[in-house]
Amino acid sequence: MTNKYMYFIANWKMFGGLSTLNSLSKVIKFLKIFKNSNKTKIIYCPPSTLINPMSKKVMNSKIQVGAQNCHESLTYGASTGSINPMMLKNAGAKYVILGHSENRESGETDKLINAKIKSATKSGLKVIFCIGETLVQKRKKITKKILSKQITLGLQKINKKKNIVIAYEPVWSIGTGIIPKPDDLFDTINFIKKKVRNIKVLYGGSVNPKNINELKLIKNIDGFLVGGASQDHKKFIDIIKKTYN
Ligand code: 13P
Repeated sequence: MTNKYMYFIANWKMFGGLSTLNSLSKVIKFLKIFKNSNKTKIIYCPPSTLINPMSKKVMNSKIQVGAQNCHESLTYGASTGSINPMMLKNAGAKYVILGHSENRESGETDKLINAKIKSATKSGLKVIFCIGETLVQKRKKITKKILSKQITLGLQKINKKKNIVIAYEPVWSIGTGIIPKPDDLFDTINFIKKKVRNIKVLYGGSVNPKNINELKLIKNIDGFLVGGASQDHKKFIDIIKKTYN
């Protein structure tokens, strides 16, 4: 059981169309009657196509909307297919996920992620900064070295971190159903919090309504970044409810 203020972030990845937004009515309704609602921060990060309609849908509710990535340039640029932070803000986003391993895998470097974080915070967006080691790195026992590098380079020359939260997402845990051992997770979160003072650290990777009972007992976690399970409003509500049970 927790009594803490917690983040619950839904990362829809490449999921959802206009009709999917109907399911949010159920979440909005739930949050109105949920007794621990005031202890939660709920953020939905749909694909860019849904940021604006979703923002309209959740207006006057507890839910805020975030994007899943952005371009590093703050303003106009000749960059076909890209969206900059100002455009995301204009569409209704309040947050943006940056450094997700799926984007690191497709070539995003720490340097690029750093440029994106700077640009996003400058625009007034809040940042959900993802870090995490791969299975190979875990087996080599270099998790802390990797996280340390991702943090140092990703947050280079960023003094004000109040609009940044870190999401620790071990790559081997994403979409696999496998979560870290509680002691290891506690230790890793602790390590991140020592490295970056006064920052919220969330956990992401296969969070679901079953394993939340185990995850919620890990005292230093400030919330969850949920992928697959967040696409189903019942599962997402269940995760929120069980965290406070
Ligand atoms: P899953 O919850 O589907 O493992 O995804 C986690 C994730 O990548 C969230 O950003």
